[in-house]
Amino acid sequence: MTTVSLLDRAISVLRLNDAGMFTKPGPHQYPHQWNWDSALIALGLSHFDLPRAHLEIRSLLSGQWQDGMIPSVVYHSMPSDYFPPSQFWQIENSPSAPPVPTTGITQPPLLATVVRRIDSRHPNPDFVREVYPSLLRWHRWMHTARDIDDSALACIIHPWESGTDDSPRWLRLFEAIQPEALPEFRRGDTRYVAAAERPNRSEYERFIYLIDVFRKLNYAPTALLAHSPFLAQDVLFNAILFRADEDLRALGVSLGEPTGEIDGWLDRVQGNFNTRFWDEGAGLYYDYDVRSGNPIPVNTAATFLPLFAGLPSREQAQRLVEGHLLNPVEYAPSGQVRHWVTTTARTEPTWEPRRYWRGPVWVIMNWFIAEGLRRYGYDGLAETIRQDTLGLIETSGFREYYDARDGSGCGSDDFSWSAALALEMSHDSK
Ligand code: GLC
Repeated sequence: MTTVSLLDRAISVLRLNDAGMFTKPGPHQYPHQWNWDSALIALGLSHFDLPRAHLEIRSLLSGQWQDGMIPSVVYHSMPSDYFPPSQFWQIENSPSAPPVPTTGITQPPLLATVVRRIDSRHPNPDFVREVYPSLLRWHRWMHTARDIDDSALACIIHPWESGTDDSPRWLRLFEAIQPEALPEFRRGDTRYVAAAERPNRSEYERFIYLIDVFRKLNYAPTALLAHSPFLAQDVLFNAILFRADEDLRALGVSLGEPTGEIDGWLDRVQGNFNTRFWDEGAGLYYDYDVRSGNPIPVNTAATFLPLFAGLPSREQAQRLVEGHLLNPVEYAPSGQVRHWVTTTARTEPTWEPRRYWRGPVWVIMNWFIAEGLRRYGYDGLAETIRQDTLGLIETSGFREYYDARDGSGCGSDDFSWSAALALEMSHDSK
């Protein structure tokens, strides 16, 4: 009997989920094209099929709005049982909506970072020239249409925009939102995955309520900033954006484009990031609730994302890593917990080992964290996390997330970014 290598199995998962123009994040649970999933999927595809990686990116860009937003989901008119379906968003009431069906919100902007990484391995100036204007317009939209205080930090208007839907970071904000006249809806996400591994009902109602508010505002950017009941400056989103701005700048330089506008964003975010998010007492980065004007003091793995962007000083990095990541009561494996890195600190009363973004291990977070650790010279710890992550995949398959206690898989099977990142993280050791 021959054993199929992890890399061959990863390639099979990406092929299995290949819908022709785009790759589904999961075969049943996520049957359309998701924004940051597709960026990572393109990175994975680039290891064995570069033209297909380019097609993945082109397909995502086909959903770009006139105002520059790249939406969280491009539906590509694929029939599916996914909820919410494309019609639910009613984006046709916005003058900015694209001709293809999409959601009306965005997701963390990983794409420029991915395009740069692929280009550094397989230089292709024509492709960079083709996608650069779209990337620039998206970044400009985040730094303007989503900037409420002239800080150049971007606001998110829905937890889905954070990519970490039911993270305990958003609980307090949700408590302040009382859905009135909730539209009729029936969840689809618990059809294929156990309800105990998915968001609670009260959060789900608020996810839907927010969409109803946005569609009544016809997705007008100024109205959304003024009236969205949920408005946050997210550490994870803004760290990814800063890193992506740097990567966009490098792409611009390679094309001989002027970079003054990007330099302006980088300067302003660099100046404002630590002031806005760093909590000196806790030694953690906290998200910011714009509506109440308060930091959100919840300790989740989002606090490590600034390392990925090179934003902390050496001292801040040391406090994050030595004070928290290596702390056996918060994140480091100890006792019942055997794997890196739980998405919520285990000292948080809201930590739940199998529920979605409430605490399981996610491959994407481990990848960000390992990359960030390497930037700050913590190579040994980065390697430990990389190997632990690949070990989880080897043992439990390409799952959406994992229970850190026994390494068992949760959520969707055959999850595309777990496969894409297995390819990328295996490459890291070469
Ligand atoms: C969930 C995740 C989000 C991801 C999507 C598709 O909504 O929270 O980050 O992009 O699934 O995988």
